[in-house]
Amino acid sequence: MKSKINSIFKEKFGKNGTLYASAGRINLIGEHTDYNGGFVFPGAIDKVIMAEIAPNGTDKVRVFSIDINEFAEFGLNESDAPAQQWARYIFGICREIIKRGGKVEGFDAVFAGNVPLGAGLSSSAALESCFAFALNDLFNGNTIDKFELARIGQSTEHNYCGVNCGIMDQFASVFGKKDNLMRLDCRSMEYEYFPFKADGYKLVLLDSKVKHALVDSPYNKRRESCERVAKTLGVETLRDADMEKLNAIRDSITAEDYFRAKYVIEEKDRVLAVCDALVKGDMETVGEKMYETHEGLSKDYEVSCVELDYLNDIARECGVTGSRIMGGGFGGCTINLVKDEIYDNFIETAKKKFNEKYGHEPVVIPVVISDGAHKVLD
Ligand code: GLA
Repeated sequence: MKSKINSIFKEKFGKNGTLYASAGRINLIGEHTDYNGGFVFPGAIDKVIMAEIAPNGTDKVRVFSIDINEFAEFGLNESDAPAQQWARYIFGICREIIKRGGKVEGFDAVFAGNVPLGAGLSSSAALESCFAFALNDLFNGNTIDKFELARIGQSTEHNYCGVNCGIMDQFASVFGKKDNLMRLDCRSMEYEYFPFKADGYKLVLLDSKVKHALVDSPYNKRRESCERVAKTLGVETLRDADMEKLNAIRDSITAEDYFRAKYVIEEKDRVLAVCDALVKGDMETVGEKMYETHEGLSKDYEVSCVELDYLNDIARECGVTGSRIMGGGFGGCTINLVKDEIYDNFIETAKKKFNEKYGHEPVVIPVVISDGAHKVLD
């Protein structure tokens, strides 16, 4: 990827730039908890977006996407937003840095990536944090702190892409560290690295390749449900709620909102239980909690779909330690914690059964926990 980006950059702009990269993420557990002030437990992975960038001495940004084979150009003023969706992420990053008093001058860039799109691995957060990190390095002497870089990515989603997301993806992408998962408390923003050395196990994602149409922005709707319940409870976020408090107001909220909040409250405890279990090397408990999360996301939060429920059933039948839908939902992939000795059988069975039912195999994505945003050294 590096040499391809290098040669295309040279060909398009006749010079060399500096290379930066950032990563997609997995999340072991703690789904839809970030915007509820809860805990998440993500890690950056070995699938990246890489960009070569050089200042061009103008007030224009010129970017070429190798994978989409498209060129975009925009100025750094709000009224110059580019037409292409992919370029709006980069435009958003520039605007959000400027809005915070940071500096962005014109630059040329070429980028490519191997983060699967639409699989729930946050390719958009990888793109955002790659450019946020790069522009901090190139124009701001690295004075913008890492949390602010993550927030710049998150605000880009809110203000330029219509997704009212939490902080998890951008946090994971900026703070990711090789061989470590991170527990982030999304209320206090305290975080801790947890070495992830699951000897005898593999982490593998099965991408269903299914993307259900997101009419009415169901992600934002889930968030609204949670906020409504928090308001009725008189708390800032569902982090401050428990089942007793929720049950006490059950009659004054809709059944739908009740089950959304129930899932979030239960998931908060599951993340902490998984962190404890991981420290003790108790992978059985880690896995059990992952299945519970799937159940909650499917039945109570309703962000799964038949294809992902089926992948989850297959994992159970094959004796996989833990499995669940990962990411925002409505399609995408499952994350599976699989013992080495049953790995091959699980993968073969999942491919065969899924293909028989849905006419295509899921894409198998083994992941290695890796570094997040960084400058790529030669
Ligand atoms: C998406 C969002 C995140 C988070 C997850 C669900 O990936 O971008 O902020 O809410 O969904 O856990």
